[in-house]
Amino acid sequence: MAPAFGLTPFRVKRWRSFWRLCRVSLLTLFGLSAGLIIAHALSQPVTLRVLMAAPDVPPWNAVMVKAFEAQNPGIRLQIVEGPNATNLIEDLYTSAFLLGDSPYDLINMDVIWTPKFAAAGWLVDLTDEFSQAELDAFSAPDVEGGKYQGRLYRLPIRSDAGMLYYRTDLLEKAGYQPPQTFEELIKISKDLQRKGWVRWGYLWQGRQYEGAAAMFVEVLKGFGGYWVNPDTLEVGLDQPAAIRAVEFLLGTIQDGVSPPGVTTYIEEDTRRIFQNGEAAFLRSWPYVWTLANADNSPIQGKLGIMPMIGSAGNEGGSCLGGWGLGISKTSRHRKEALQAIRFLTQGELQKQFILEAGYVPSRRDLFTESDIVAKYNYFPQFLEVIQRAVLRPPIAQYAQASDILQRYLSAALTNQMTAERAMQEAARETRLLLEAGRRRQVVGGRKEA
Ligand code: GLC
Repeated sequence: MAPAFGLTPFRVKRWRSFWRLCRVSLLTLFGLSAGLIIAHALSQPVTLRVLMAAPDVPPWNAVMVKAFEAQNPGIRLQIVEGPNATNLIEDLYTSAFLLGDSPYDLINMDVIWTPKFAAAGWLVDLTDEFSQAELDAFSAPDVEGGKYQGRLYRLPIRSDAGMLYYRTDLLEKAGYQPPQTFEELIKISKDLQRKGWVRWGYLWQGRQYEGAAAMFVEVLKGFGGYWVNPDTLEVGLDQPAAIRAVEFLLGTIQDGVSPPGVTTYIEEDTRRIFQNGEAAFLRSWPYVWTLANADNSPIQGKLGIMPMIGSAGNEGGSCLGGWGLGISKTSRHRKEALQAIRFLTQGELQKQFILEAGYVPSRRDLFTESDIVAKYNYFPQFLEVIQRAVLRPPIAQYAQASDILQRYLSAALTNQMTAERAMQEAARETRLLLEAGRRRQVVGGRKEA
Protein backbone atom coordinates (compact mmCIF):
# COMPACT_ATOMS: atom_id res chain seq x y z
CA MET A 1 0.00 0.00 0.00
CA ALA A 2 1.26 3.51 -0.83
CA PRO A 3 2.37 5.49 2.23
CA ALA A 4 0.11 8.32 3.42
CA PHE A 5 0.24 11.50 1.28
CA GLY A 6 2.35 9.64 -1.18
CA LEU A 7 5.53 9.92 0.99
CA THR A 8 8.03 7.12 1.21
CA PRO A 9 9.16 6.08 4.73
CA PHE A 10 12.49 7.72 3.98
CA ARG A 11 10.84 11.05 3.17
CA VAL A 12 8.61 10.88 6.27
CA LYS A 13 11.72 10.52 8.41
CA ARG A 14 13.32 13.57 6.75
CA TRP A 15 10.18 15.66 7.29
CA ARG A 16 10.09 14.65 10.93
CA SER A 17 13.75 15.64 11.50
CA PHE A 18 13.12 18.89 9.64
CA TRP A 19 10.14 19.78 11.91
CA ARG A 20 12.07 18.78 15.03
CA LEU A 21 14.87 21.13 13.97
CA CYS A 22 12.37 23.95 13.37
CA ARG A 23 10.77 23.43 16.80
CA VAL A 24 14.14 23.40 18.57
CA SER A 25 15.24 26.56 16.74
CA LEU A 26 11.96 28.35 17.50
CA LEU A 27 12.17 27.43 21.18
CA THR A 28 15.78 28.59 21.35
CA LEU A 29 14.84 31.85 19.64
CA PHE A 30 11.90 32.37 22.01
CA GLY A 31 14.06 31.60 25.05
CA LEU A 32 16.74 33.99 23.89
CA SER A 33 14.30 36.86 23.26
CA ALA A 34 12.58 36.31 26.63
CA GLY A 35 15.99 36.32 28.29
CA LEU A 36 16.93 39.51 26.51
CA ILE A 37 13.66 41.18 27.51
CA ILE A 38 14.11 40.17 31.16
CA ALA A 39 17.74 41.26 31.15
CA HIS A 40 16.74 44.58 29.64
CA ALA A 41 13.98 45.09 32.25
CA LEU A 42 16.41 44.22 35.03
CA SER A 43 19.02 46.62 33.78
CA GLN A 44 16.46 49.49 33.69
CA PRO A 45 16.87 51.69 36.76
CA VAL A 46 14.07 51.62 39.30
CA THR A 47 12.59 55.09 39.61
CA LEU A 48 11.39 56.29 42.99
CA ARG A 49 9.02 59.22 42.71
CA VAL A 50 8.43 61.76 45.45
CA LEU A 51 6.34 64.93 45.43
CA MET A 52 7.37 68.02 47.39
CA ALA A 53 6.77 71.74 47.83
CA ALA A 54 8.53 73.93 45.26
CA PRO A 55 10.94 75.70 47.68
CA ASP A 56 12.29 72.32 48.84
CA VAL A 57 13.25 71.19 45.34
CA PRO A 58 16.56 73.09 44.79
CA PRO A 59 18.29 71.81 47.97
CA TRP A 60 16.89 68.30 47.39
CA ASN A 61 18.31 68.25 43.88
CA ALA A 62 21.62 69.82 44.89
CA VAL A 63 22.30 67.45 47.78
CA MET A 64 19.95 64.50 48.21
CA VAL A 65 19.32 63.38 44.63
CA LYS A 66 22.94 63.88 43.61
CA ALA A 67 24.38 61.84 46.48
CA PHE A 68 21.69 59.16 46.32
CA GLU A 69 21.99 58.47 42.60
CA ALA A 70 25.79 58.49 42.75
CA GLN A 71 25.89 55.88 45.49
CA ASN A 72 22.84 53.78 44.64
CA PRO A 73 23.32 52.64 41.05
CA GLY A 74 20.17 51.26 39.50
CA ILE A 75 17.81 53.51 41.47
CA ARG A 76 16.71 56.94 40.30
CA LEU A 77 15.12 59.51 42.55
CA GLN A 78 12.60 61.61 40.69
CA ILE A 79 11.44 64.78 42.41
CA VAL A 80 8.03 66.04 41.36
CA GLU A 81 7.69 69.75 42.08
CA GLY A 82 4.39 70.70 43.68
CA PRO A 83 2.88 74.01 44.79
CA ASN A 84 4.30 76.07 47.69
CA ALA A 85 1.63 75.52 50.33
CA THR A 86 1.86 72.32 52.36
CA ASN A 87 -1.92 71.73 52.38
CA LEU A 88 -1.98 71.76 48.57
CA ILE A 89 0.74 69.09 48.53
CA GLU A 90 -1.28 67.11 51.06
CA ASP A 91 -4.34 67.34 48.79
CA LEU A 92 -2.31 66.02 45.86
CA TYR A 93 -1.01 63.08 47.87
CA THR A 94 -4.49 62.43 49.26
CA SER A 95 -6.15 62.31 45.85
CA ALA A 96 -3.36 60.06 44.57
CA PHE A 97 -4.00 57.66 47.47
CA LEU A 98 -7.77 57.81 47.02
CA LEU A 99 -7.42 56.88 43.36
CA GLY A 100 -5.87 53.68 44.63
CA ASP A 101 -2.52 53.48 42.90
CA SER A 102 -0.30 56.30 44.13
CA PRO A 103 2.29 57.32 41.54
CA TYR A 104 4.57 58.25 44.45
CA ASP A 105 6.77 55.66 46.14
CA LEU A 106 8.25 57.89 48.81
CA ILE A 107 5.96 60.29 50.62
CA ASN A 108 7.64 63.51 51.76
CA MET A 109 5.44 64.21 54.74
CA ASP A 110 4.79 67.29 56.83
CA VAL A 111 4.87 66.51 60.55
CA ILE A 112 1.07 66.95 60.78
CA TRP A 113 0.10 64.35 58.17
CA THR A 114 1.17 61.10 59.81
CA PRO A 115 -1.99 60.41 61.87
CA LYS A 116 -4.29 60.97 58.88
CA PHE A 117 -2.25 59.02 56.29
CA ALA A 118 -1.51 56.19 58.72
CA ALA A 119 -5.12 55.94 59.97
CA ALA A 120 -6.27 55.69 56.34
CA GLY A 121 -3.88 52.76 55.80
CA TRP A 122 -1.91 54.49 53.05
CA LEU A 123 1.57 54.05 54.51
CA VAL A 124 3.93 51.12 55.05
CA ASP A 125 4.51 50.40 58.76
CA LEU A 126 8.23 50.99 59.35
CA THR A 127 8.28 50.06 63.05
CA ASP A 128 10.31 46.88 62.64
CA GLU A 129 12.79 48.43 60.21
CA PHE A 130 14.46 50.83 62.67
CA SER A 131 15.87 50.01 66.10
CA GLN A 132 15.26 52.20 69.14
CA ALA A 133 18.97 53.14 69.09
CA GLU A 134 18.61 54.38 65.50
CA LEU A 135 15.56 56.45 66.42
CA ASP A 136 17.26 57.89 69.51
CA ALA A 137 19.70 59.73 67.25
CA PHE A 138 16.81 62.01 66.18
CA SER A 139 15.14 64.61 68.39
CA ALA A 140 12.15 63.08 70.15
CA PRO A 141 9.34 65.35 68.83
CA ASP A 142 10.44 64.64 65.24
CA VAL A 143 10.25 60.90 65.82
CA GLU A 144 6.92 61.23 67.62
CA GLY A 145 5.64 63.23 64.62
CA GLY A 146 6.21 60.11 62.52
CA LYS A 147 4.20 57.79 64.75
CA TYR A 148 0.53 56.87 64.90
CA GLN A 149 -0.86 54.68 67.67
CA GLY A 150 2.66 53.72 68.69
CA ARG A 151 3.73 52.55 65.21
CA LEU A 152 6.33 54.31 63.06
CA TYR A 153 5.40 55.49 59.54
CA ARG A 154 7.83 58.33 58.83
CA LEU A 155 11.54 59.00 59.38
CA PRO A 156 12.46 62.67 59.92
CA ILE A 157 14.57 64.31 57.23
CA ARG A 158 14.59 67.73 58.83
CA SER A 159 12.87 69.56 61.62
CA ASP A 160 11.38 73.04 61.63
CA ALA A 161 10.28 75.64 64.15
CA GLY A 162 8.59 79.02 63.83
CA MET A 163 11.07 81.85 64.43
CA LEU A 164 11.08 85.58 64.89
CA TYR A 165 13.42 87.48 62.56
CA TYR A 166 14.46 91.05 63.32
CA ARG A 167 16.61 93.69 61.70
CA THR A 168 19.71 93.95 63.87
CA ASP A 169 20.93 97.13 62.14
CA LEU A 170 17.70 99.06 62.77
CA LEU A 171 17.28 97.89 66.34
CA GLU A 172 20.86 98.82 67.20
CA LYS A 173 20.58 102.21 65.54
CA ALA A 174 17.40 102.96 67.50
CA GLY A 175 18.91 101.61 70.74
CA TYR A 176 16.61 98.59 71.17
CA GLN A 177 17.29 95.07 72.35
CA PRO A 178 15.38 92.33 70.48
CA PRO A 179 11.80 92.29 71.85
CA GLN A 180 10.90 89.78 74.55
CA THR A 181 7.12 90.22 74.30
CA PHE A 182 4.49 90.96 71.65
CA GLU A 183 3.90 94.32 73.30
CA GLU A 184 7.56 95.32 72.89
CA LEU A 185 7.51 94.10 69.30
CA ILE A 186 4.57 96.39 68.52
CA LYS A 187 6.15 99.34 70.31
CA ILE A 188 9.46 98.99 68.44
CA SER A 189 7.65 98.44 65.15
CA LYS A 190 5.64 101.63 65.52
CA ASP A 191 8.74 103.61 66.43
CA LEU A 192 10.75 102.36 63.45
CA GLN A 193 7.79 103.01 61.16
CA ARG A 194 7.38 106.53 62.60
CA LYS A 195 11.06 107.18 61.93
CA GLY A 196 10.41 106.17 58.34
CA TRP A 197 13.06 103.43 58.41
CA VAL A 198 10.67 100.68 57.44
CA ARG A 199 7.29 100.62 55.79
CA TRP A 200 5.95 97.76 57.91
CA GLY A 201 6.58 96.58 61.45
CA TYR A 202 5.60 92.91 61.57
CA LEU A 203 4.95 90.31 58.86
CA TRP A 204 3.16 87.02 59.40
CA GLN A 205 1.22 84.50 57.33
CA GLY A 206 -2.53 85.18 57.34
CA ARG A 207 -3.85 83.49 54.22
CA GLN A 208 -6.49 80.80 54.74
CA TYR A 209 -4.06 77.84 54.55
CA GLU A 210 -2.04 75.55 56.81
CA GLY A 211 0.72 78.11 57.41
CA ALA A 212 -1.80 80.35 59.20
CA ALA A 213 -2.68 77.50 61.57
CA ALA A 214 1.04 77.02 62.34
CA MET A 215 1.47 80.76 62.94
CA PHE A 216 -1.68 80.89 65.08
CA VAL A 217 -0.67 78.10 67.52
CA GLU A 218 2.32 80.27 68.41
CA VAL A 219 0.18 83.32 69.15
CA LEU A 220 -2.25 81.09 71.04
CA LYS A 221 0.60 79.76 73.18
CA GLY A 222 1.88 83.31 73.56
CA PHE A 223 -1.43 84.26 75.20
CA GLY A 224 -1.58 81.11 77.33
CA GLY A 225 -4.22 79.39 75.20
CA TYR A 226 -4.48 76.07 73.35
CA TRP A 227 -6.25 74.59 70.35
CA VAL A 228 -7.07 70.93 71.08
CA ASN A 229 -5.72 68.93 73.99
CA PRO A 230 -4.74 65.67 72.26
CA ASP A 231 -5.28 63.57 75.39
CA THR A 232 -8.70 64.83 76.48
CA LEU A 233 -9.78 66.25 73.08
CA GLU A 234 -10.91 69.40 74.90
CA VAL A 235 -11.14 72.39 72.55
CA GLY A 236 -9.74 75.74 73.74
CA LEU A 237 -10.59 77.97 70.79
CA ASP A 238 -13.42 79.87 72.50
CA GLN A 239 -11.44 80.55 75.68
CA PRO A 240 -10.56 84.20 76.43
CA ALA A 241 -6.86 83.53 75.65
CA ALA A 242 -7.71 82.37 72.13
CA ILE A 243 -9.93 85.39 71.50
CA ARG A 244 -7.16 87.70 72.73
CA ALA A 245 -4.76 85.95 70.34
CA VAL A 246 -7.02 86.72 67.35
CA GLU A 247 -7.52 90.29 68.56
CA PHE A 248 -3.75 90.74 68.77
CA LEU A 249 -3.33 89.74 65.12
CA LEU A 250 -6.27 91.93 64.06
CA GLY A 251 -4.74 94.82 65.99
CA THR A 252 -1.47 94.55 64.05
CA ILE A 253 -3.43 95.16 60.84
CA GLN A 254 -5.70 97.86 62.30
CA ASP A 255 -2.67 99.76 63.65
CA GLY A 256 -0.86 99.56 60.33
CA VAL A 257 1.99 97.56 61.92
CA SER A 258 1.23 94.70 59.51
CA PRO A 259 0.17 95.34 55.91
CA PRO A 260 -3.52 94.76 55.06
CA GLY A 261 -2.28 92.20 52.52
CA VAL A 262 -1.01 90.00 55.35
CA THR A 263 -4.35 88.17 55.25
CA THR A 264 -3.39 86.85 51.81
CA TYR A 265 0.28 86.09 52.46
CA ILE A 266 2.01 82.74 52.69
CA GLU A 267 5.67 82.28 53.75
CA GLU A 268 7.25 83.30 50.47
CA ASP A 269 5.21 86.54 50.21
CA THR A 270 6.35 87.63 53.65
CA ARG A 271 9.96 86.63 52.98
CA ARG A 272 10.14 88.73 49.83
CA ILE A 273 8.87 91.87 51.60
CA PHE A 274 11.19 91.34 54.57
CA GLN A 275 14.16 90.55 52.34
CA ASN A 276 13.49 93.73 50.38
CA GLY A 277 14.12 95.65 53.56
CA GLU A 278 10.53 96.78 53.97
CA ALA A 279 9.78 95.39 57.44
CA ALA A 280 11.39 95.28 60.88
CA PHE A 281 10.11 91.84 62.02
CA LEU A 282 9.05 88.61 60.39
CA ARG A 283 7.58 85.40 61.74
CA SER A 284 8.72 82.50 59.58
CA TRP A 285 10.76 79.28 59.42
CA PRO A 286 14.56 78.94 59.49
CA TYR A 287 14.83 78.49 55.70
CA VAL A 288 14.55 82.29 55.40
CA TRP A 289 17.97 82.77 57.03
CA THR A 290 19.99 81.39 54.09
CA LEU A 291 18.01 83.25 51.45
CA ALA A 292 17.91 86.58 53.32
CA ASN A 293 21.67 86.35 53.89
CA ALA A 294 22.52 85.49 50.28
CA ASP A 295 24.76 87.83 48.27
CA ASN A 296 21.83 89.24 46.33
CA SER A 297 19.84 90.08 49.46
CA PRO A 298 19.52 93.77 50.42
CA ILE A 299 19.49 92.79 54.09
CA GLN A 300 22.48 90.43 54.01
CA GLY A 301 24.16 90.39 57.42
CA LYS A 302 21.48 92.63 58.95
CA LEU A 303 19.14 90.10 60.49
CA GLY A 304 18.79 88.28 63.76
CA ILE A 305 16.74 85.19 64.55
CA MET A 306 15.20 84.04 67.82
CA PRO A 307 12.53 81.64 69.10
CA MET A 308 8.97 82.94 69.01
CA ILE A 309 7.99 85.29 71.84
CA GLY A 310 4.66 85.66 73.69
CA SER A 311 2.53 88.30 75.35
CA ALA A 312 3.82 89.85 78.62
CA GLY A 313 3.63 87.30 81.44
CA ASN A 314 3.34 84.30 79.08
CA GLU A 315 5.94 82.03 77.62
CA GLY A 316 6.15 82.12 73.83
CA GLY A 317 6.27 78.99 71.76
CA SER A 318 7.68 78.08 68.36
CA CYS A 319 5.45 75.79 66.34
CA LEU A 320 6.98 72.42 65.51
CA GLY A 321 7.15 71.88 61.78
CA GLY A 322 9.29 69.49 59.85
CA TRP A 323 9.40 66.92 57.10
CA GLY A 324 10.11 63.22 56.85
CA LEU A 325 9.82 60.25 54.52
CA GLY A 326 7.30 57.45 54.48
CA ILE A 327 6.53 54.77 51.87
CA SER A 328 3.28 54.42 49.96
CA LYS A 329 1.62 51.05 50.48
CA THR A 330 1.00 50.80 46.74
CA SER A 331 4.65 51.34 45.81
CA ARG A 332 6.05 48.51 43.69
CA HIS A 333 9.54 49.38 44.93
CA ARG A 334 9.27 49.06 48.70
CA LYS A 335 12.75 47.57 49.06
CA GLU A 336 14.39 50.41 47.14
CA ALA A 337 12.22 53.01 48.91
CA LEU A 338 13.40 51.71 52.28
CA GLN A 339 16.98 51.77 51.03
CA ALA A 340 16.40 55.41 50.05
CA ILE A 341 14.99 56.33 53.47
CA ARG A 342 18.00 54.79 55.18
CA PHE A 343 20.37 56.62 52.88
CA LEU A 344 18.64 60.00 52.92
CA THR A 345 18.26 60.21 56.69
CA GLN A 346 21.92 59.43 57.49
CA GLY A 347 23.97 62.03 59.36
CA GLU A 348 26.53 63.07 56.76
CA LEU A 349 23.92 63.72 54.10
CA GLN A 350 21.66 65.62 56.48
CA LYS A 351 24.65 67.78 57.37
CA GLN A 352 25.22 68.68 53.68
CA PHE A 353 21.49 69.34 53.27
CA ILE A 354 21.49 71.71 56.22
CA LEU A 355 24.63 73.52 55.13
CA GLU A 356 22.99 74.03 51.75
CA ALA A 357 19.54 75.17 52.87
CA GLY A 358 19.68 76.27 56.52
CA TYR A 359 16.97 73.79 57.52
CA VAL A 360 16.78 72.65 61.13
CA PRO A 361 18.40 69.22 61.69
CA SER A 362 16.35 66.30 62.89
CA ARG A 363 19.49 64.51 64.11
CA ARG A 364 20.42 65.73 67.55
CA ASP A 365 24.21 65.72 67.14
CA LEU A 366 24.02 68.07 64.16
CA PHE A 367 22.79 70.99 66.29
CA THR A 368 26.31 71.29 67.68
CA GLU A 369 28.34 69.93 64.74
CA SER A 370 31.29 72.30 64.11
CA ASP A 371 30.74 73.07 60.38
CA ILE A 372 27.05 73.67 61.00
CA VAL A 373 27.66 75.92 64.00
CA ALA A 374 30.31 77.83 62.03
CA LYS A 375 27.62 78.65 59.48
CA TYR A 376 24.58 78.97 61.78
CA ASN A 377 25.77 80.03 65.21
CA TYR A 378 22.22 80.03 66.63
CA PHE A 379 21.70 76.27 66.08
CA PRO A 380 22.98 75.01 69.46
CA GLN A 381 20.05 76.74 71.23
CA PHE A 382 17.58 75.36 68.66
CA LEU A 383 17.60 71.82 70.01
CA GLU A 384 15.99 73.14 73.16
CA VAL A 385 13.50 75.16 71.08
CA ILE A 386 12.51 72.01 69.18
CA GLN A 387 12.11 69.95 72.38
CA ARG A 388 9.76 72.61 73.80
CA ALA A 389 7.99 73.45 70.54
CA VAL A 390 4.22 73.83 70.37
CA LEU A 391 2.51 71.02 68.48
CA ARG A 392 -0.44 71.28 66.22
CA PRO A 393 -2.85 68.63 67.57
CA PRO A 394 -1.55 65.18 66.55
CA ILE A 395 -5.00 63.73 65.80
CA ALA A 396 -6.25 61.74 62.82
CA GLN A 397 -8.80 64.46 61.97
CA TYR A 398 -6.09 67.13 61.96
CA ALA A 399 -6.67 68.24 58.35
CA GLN A 400 -10.36 68.92 59.05
CA ALA A 401 -9.66 70.61 62.40
CA SER A 402 -7.10 72.83 60.71
CA ASP A 403 -9.54 73.62 57.93
CA ILE A 404 -12.13 74.79 60.47
CA LEU A 405 -9.60 76.97 62.26
CA GLN A 406 -8.26 78.46 59.02
CA ARG A 407 -11.79 79.33 57.86
CA TYR A 408 -12.85 81.14 61.02
CA LEU A 409 -9.49 82.76 61.64
CA SER A 410 -9.61 84.16 58.14
CA ALA A 411 -13.22 85.35 58.67
CA ALA A 412 -12.11 87.25 61.79
CA LEU A 413 -8.95 88.68 60.20
CA THR A 414 -10.88 89.95 57.19
CA ASN A 415 -13.55 91.49 59.44
CA GLN A 416 -16.37 89.22 58.35
CA MET A 417 -16.95 88.18 61.97
CA THR A 418 -15.85 89.44 65.34
CA ALA A 419 -12.94 87.55 66.90
CA GLU A 420 -15.25 86.23 69.61
CA ARG A 421 -17.98 84.97 67.30
CA ALA A 422 -15.44 83.42 64.89
CA MET A 423 -13.70 81.53 67.67
CA GLN A 424 -16.99 80.35 69.17
CA GLU A 425 -18.03 78.95 65.81
CA ALA A 426 -14.60 77.39 65.26
CA ALA A 427 -14.76 75.74 68.70
CA ARG A 428 -18.31 74.47 68.09
CA GLU A 429 -17.45 72.90 64.72
CA THR A 430 -14.24 71.40 66.10
CA ARG A 431 -16.15 69.80 68.98
CA LEU A 432 -18.67 68.32 66.51
CA LEU A 433 -15.82 66.94 64.42
CA LEU A 434 -14.07 65.35 67.39
CA GLU A 435 -17.35 64.01 68.77
CA ALA A 436 -18.12 62.34 65.41
CA GLY A 437 -14.61 60.85 65.45
CA ARG A 438 -15.17 59.50 68.98
CA ARG A 439 -18.51 57.95 67.97
CA ARG A 440 -16.89 56.31 64.95
CA GLN A 441 -14.21 54.86 67.21
CA VAL A 442 -16.82 53.46 69.62
CA VAL A 443 -18.82 51.91 66.77
CA GLY A 444 -15.59 50.58 65.21
CA GLY A 445 -14.59 49.21 68.63
CA ARG A 446 -17.93 47.37 69.00
CA LYS A 447 -17.66 45.93 65.53
CA GLU A 448 -14.24 44.58 66.32
CA ALA A 449 -15.31 43.23 69.72
C1 GLC B 1 6.75 74.53 57.08
C2 GLC B 1 6.71 73.53 58.22
C3 GLC B 1 5.48 72.70 58.14
C4 GLC B 1 4.26 73.59 58.11
C5 GLC B 1 4.35 74.56 56.95
C6 GLC B 1 3.19 75.54 56.99
O1 GLC B 1 6.97 73.89 55.88
O2 GLC B 1 7.85 72.71 58.19
O3 GLC B 1 5.41 71.82 59.23
O4 GLC B 1 3.07 72.85 58.06
O5 GLC B 1 5.55 75.29 56.98
O6 GLC B 1 3.19 76.39 55.90
